[in-house]
Amino acid sequence: DEQGELITRAPVVTIMGHVDHGKTSLLDAIRKTNVQTGEAGGITQHIGAYQVEQNGHKITFIDTPGHAAFTAMRSRGAKSTDIVILVVAADDGVMPQTIEAINHARAAKVPVIVAINKIDKPSADPTRVRTELLQHEIFVESMGGETLDVEVSAKTGENLDKLLETILLQSEVLDLKADPNRSAEGTVIEAKLDKGRGPVATVLVQRGTLRPGDIVVAGSEWGRVRALLNDRGTAMTEAEPSTPVEVLGFQGAPAAGDRFAVVETEARAREIADYRARQKREKAVARQTT
Ligand code: GTP
Ligand code: NA
Ligand code: MG
Repeated sequence: DEQGELITRAPVVTIMGHVDHGKTSLLDAIRKTNVQTGEAGGITQHIGAYQVEQNGHKITFIDTPGHAAFTAMRSRGAKSTDIVILVVAADDGVMPQTIEAINHARAAKVPVIVAINKIDKPSADPTRVRTELLQHEIFVESMGGETLDVEVSAKTGENLDKLLETILLQSEVLDLKADPNRSAEGTVIEAKLDKGRGPVATVLVQRGTLRPGDIVVAGSEWGRVRALLNDRGTAMTEAEPSTPVEVLGFQGAPAAGDRFAVVETEARAREIADYRARQKREKAVARQTT
């Protein structure tokens, strides 16, 4: 594709960290919502994608689960992001999935901002967190390094503005651009079969602009976009780069992590999807016979 006009795009920020360190609570506090209390056992089991606005600047957030079972989701989360927010509970410190998250961010070469959470708790010890992070080569500013860190409380809302400002500061340094005038491309964050609405895919648009009526292929699935919904369920007429959006209109649910792209015709979409489905079947047969 020829390179068109580049515009500044919103940073995509993935929240990572050990189970129950307060990732979803932080996002809830930022968005003034209440996702966390609705989760089974208070455990996040999927990836959520949201957009907020701070002083006229948009920020896209991707929440990930901290439970040990969800390594693949965290790995994918770190790959399609610009910044990782590493949430560490100040009363618990660096734990196994904290270290795992550091490693995912490092593998993906993504800058980390440390959010030291739960500082409202009497047992909070943010200095200990910083010292523990040193052992994993995360050097925060006050320890002579370059990693930005913010002490926050999802419970009291302390320093949430500062966290958002720090994200915007980091994203200015990254100088994030995208071309909105090409056909849309991006990543499937999650997908499900909804009883009423049929296949629903949450996608992150990374290049171009996605619109209702577009023909999309993701993995071995395709469809014509019937509707685009933002994270509050509002219909959108377009989704520009860095926008997370629910796509209705797929024939079947694609897989999380699949790339999606807009193509010219339904025939072309069907051809690509069929080819990939055939490849998948052949691979499965090959696995069975060896
Ligand atoms: P997973 O997604 O399951 O890994 O958990 P999470 O990191 O999203 O943590 P979650 O938001 O589910 O919070 C876990 C618990 O910590 C809940 O009981 C929250 O109410 C509590 N919590 C989160 N943030 C704070 C905080 O800043 N202060 C206090 N006191 N409690 C908090
Ligand atoms: Na939790
Ligand atoms: Mg959570």
